[in-house]
Order: sequence, then structure tokens, then C-alpha cells
Amino acid sequence: MSIPRKVIFDTDPGVDDAMALYYALAHPGLEVIGIATTFGNVYVEQAVANALYLTALAGRQISVTVGMAQPLVKKAEAPPDFIHGADGLGNLPQRVATAGALDPRSSAQFIVDMARQFPGEITLVAVGPLGNLAAALLLAPELPTLVREVVLMGGAVLESGNVSPVAEANIWNDPHAADAVFTAGWPLTMVGLDVTHQVILPLSLFRQIAEHHQHIATDTLHHAVAFYSGFYSAHDAAVGQITGCYGHDVLAFVVLTNPELFTLQAGRVRVAVDGLAQGQTMMQRKAVSYPQHGWHDDIPHTQVCMQVQFEACKAVIEATLMRDWMLKPLLALTE
Ligand code: RIB
Ligand code: CA
Repeated sequence: MSIPRKVIFDTDPGVDDAMALYYALAHPGLEVIGIATTFGNVYVEQAVANALYLTALAGRQISVTVGMAQPLVKKAEAPPDFIHGADGLGNLPQRVATAGALDPRSSAQFIVDMARQFPGEITLVAVGPLGNLAAALLLAPELPTLVREVVLMGGAVLESGNVSPVAEANIWNDPHAADAVFTAGWPLTMVGLDVTHQVILPLSLFRQIAEHHQHIATDTLHHAVAFYSGFYSAHDAAVGQITGCYGHDVLAFVVLTNPELFTLQAGRVRVAVDGLAQGQTMMQRKAVSYPQHGWHDDIPHTQVCMQVQFEACKAVIEATLMRDWMLKPLLALTE
């Protein structure tokens, strides 16, 4: 039996973030050793509350840290409550009282501490705006030599953007942080809209998972996905045909557990930080030298996911979430 890969999950939960978290907790090849939080789908305070809640419901005690509340440079925007709900989990009608305490460190400090404690072992999986990784790089410029790899969900190369014609939401939300991450020089894989828009997950899948487990964690996920699917089904004809949603963030874990399902292309990626193209991930796809500032040969390469085997990917997500992986929820003690 191989040793599970140590992962820090950097997230703005968020419905597809919740899907991704539960996939990671369910998969025997992954060990989530901590959760970094960020603004994005919700304000950071709500992101923290959701991370604590989702882990407690699944019966897991995992370090949760407070991360970035706003972008590095640009002005923060209101969270997209019409996609994820005002609470990020599809407007849950109620929440049970759960146990679980916050780790006092900032998310950036936690990332640095873990990378130093387990050199060469940590995989950072980032599925929100990238400020925590940028802040960690400032705290420890040697970080790229300490982590095993970074996988991020964000960006688009050939596919259109989802918040502007060229920008994907996570990169749009903090383009300066994203450019720092793409140029840091760590082993980096980008899981962008080029592949996440190829994977439409039906709401019925999450109903089947909830019916199978009869557990508050998967009931909560099903409720959240129902709200999220409502948005996508109304706004995207292909998704509406099956009443479903894009799994975006969960693919950042599937590429780790099942890399054979993806086709990758290596090249330099930079981010437009302002102007009409703000948030665009521009990829150098030809192996030539460009003399222009910002595209010199010393800019590191990113492995960019360009294609995914949709049916096999959906089957892996289903099989993983159907596993017997949840423990008794960690409920708050009442008098
Ligand atoms: O564009 C999709 C990304 O934006 C996902 O990470 C989703 O959770 C939102 O943050
Ligand atoms: Ca996200």
C-alpha cells in the first residue's frame, strides 16, 4: 500500500470546493493535512466557517487557518452569492452545532511551516484566488524548493473565460497573486476551464451519493450542489440539458489521483494584471524564444491541462465519493 500524498487544500468554499474537499477526504491516496482559506466565493470569515463545518460533518479534525480577506492590489468585489448561495453552501436552511477550533496561524504561515516540517512532501492544491500562495512566497522565497508540487484550479487557455471573455474567476479575483504563483518556479499544474468545462456532473449523481450514505455530510453536499446546479443549468444550455454543474475544483484532485485521464501541455503562463484582459492566463504554446520583457527563457514552465476524458473522470468521482469514508460527525457538546 503506498503512502498517501500530503495535501494542503487552499480553498474558498464554495460548492465545488466542498465537492473537492470531500473527494480528497474520501480518496485513500490523499491525506489532507490542513486547510488554508481565502475570500472568493464567500468572504474569508464564511470560508473559515464552511471549512470547519464541512470537516466536522465528515468527522474529521483538520487544521483550518485564516487566509486572505482581499486581493493583493485590486479592489475586492462582492462574492457571487447567486452561484454558491450567500453562505457558500447553497443557503443551508440550518446548521448543526459542530466542534472544531481554528489554528491560530495565518494560512500563509501554515503553508510555510508545513513545507519546512515535511520538505519535498507537501502538495499544495489551490482552488480559489491565489493570495495565500503569494503571501507564503513572500514569507519564504525558498518555498518552491520545499514543496513537492502545486496544482491550481484557475485560468483558461483556449476556452473562453467565465467572468470576462478571457478571465477565469480565481485568476480574475487576484491577478497579481496569480502571476506571482505562475512565475515562482515550483512544479506547477494548471487545471483551468479548458478541462473543467468538459466535465458536467449531473445533480442526480449527488442525490445517489446522499441516498447511499444517509449521512449529514453528503446530505449537505447534495443540498449545496442542488443550488449550484440551478445556476449553471439556467445559464448554460449544455449543463441545463442534464440539470447539473461544472465540478471545477474537484478536478484539481482528480489530476493527482488519475493523471492518465488528462492531456497536458507545458509552456510559460503569465497573467494580465490590468486593462481589458485583466485576469487572462496567457500561455506560450510554441517552443520558441521571445525577446519581449516578461517572456524570457528564465520564466518557468507550467503544465497546463488541455483535455480530459470526461466519462472516466465522472466515474472516478462517483466511485470515490461512494466509498465508505465518513466518520461520526464532530458535534458540539451541549449541557
Ligand atoms: O471558475 C471556477 C472557480 O471559481 C472555482 O474555484 C469556483 O469555486 C470559483 O472559485
Ligand atoms: Ca473555488
